[in-house]
Amino acid sequence: MSGAADLSSFGLGSDSFITVLTGAGVSAECGIPTFRGAGGLWRTYRAEELARPEAFREDPRLVWEWYDYRRGICAGKQPNPAHHAITRLDEKVSDFLLITQNVDNLHGRAGTRRLVELHGNLFRARCLDCGAVTSDLPVPLPEIPPHCTCGGMLRPDIVWFGEALPEKAIREASEASRDCDLMVVAGTSAVVQPAASMPLLAKQAGAHVIEVNPDPTPLTPYVDLHLEGKAGEVMPGLVDSILELTSP
Ligand code: OAD
Repeated sequence: MSGAADLSSFGLGSDSFITVLTGAGVSAECGIPTFRGAGGLWRTYRAEELARPEAFREDPRLVWEWYDYRRGICAGKQPNPAHHAITRLDEKVSDFLLITQNVDNLHGRAGTRRLVELHGNLFRARCLDCGAVTSDLPVPLPEIPPHCTCGGMLRPDIVWFGEALPEKAIREASEASRDCDLMVVAGTSAVVQPAASMPLLAKQAGAHVIEVNPDPTPLTPYVDLHLEGKAGEVMPGLVDSILELTSP
C-alpha cells in the first residue's frame, strides 16, 4: 500500500489545519512492541497491570525495571519513514499539530516540534517529593528506583491508568481536534480514552478523518478513509498527497 490517496474531495488548501494522532503502531516497524499486539507482555505482566499508581506504590522497583527495559529498547531504535513523514508535515504545513500517545520519544528524535505528548515520555522522570522533572537519566539506570538530587524517589513522567492527563496537553489536543480540517489517525487501537475520542471530536466538528492501520479498529466505521497498511509504508505517500493540496 503506497499511501497515495485521492483527497481532492476534502477541500484542503494552504490555510488548512492538519492534525495527526499517533499510537504505538507507528513505532512497530522500528521493532518496538505495541501494547495490545504480540510481544506486548513483559515477563508475565500486561501494560495495564504495571502502568498504574497502585502498582508503583506496591513495588516501585518492579515498575521501574519495566520502564528501564522499555527505555533501553526505545533508545536503541531509530525513527522510521512514518515518523519522518510526520516531521515533513510539521515543517511544511503552517497550521499543524501532532498529538501522540507514544512515550518512546521517536517523534521528537525525528524532528517533529509541534507535538503534544498525551501520555508523557519514557525519558523524563519526576520527583515524588519536590516535583522536579529530569530528562538526563542514563540508559540503563545505574540505580533502581532512581532518586532526585533532593533525595526523593523519582517516578516515570508517564500518565498511568487512573490518572488525569496533564491539563495543558489535553486542552491543546482537544482544541486542535475541534479546530482542524483533517486528522490522520495512525497506529492506534483507539480504545484508550481520552485519546480515542479526539478523532470523534474532529469528525463532529466537520473535519475529515483518515485512519492508517493494518487492521480495523472501533474508529474505522466513522472515518472518511481507512488506509489499510503499515504506517511506515502508507504515511510517506499520504503526506505527499496532503502536501500537494496544502502547499501554497
Ligand atoms: P495499541 O497496542 O493498543 O494498538 C496499536 C495499534 O497499532 C493496533 O491497532 C495495531 O493494529 C496497529 N498497528 C500495528 N502495527 C502497525 C503498523 N506497522 N502501522 C500502523 N499501525 C499498526 O497501542 P495504542 O493505541 O498506542 O498508554 O495504545 C494506547 C495506550 O494504551 C498507550 O499509549 C499506552 C497503552 O496502555 C500508556 O502507557 C499510558
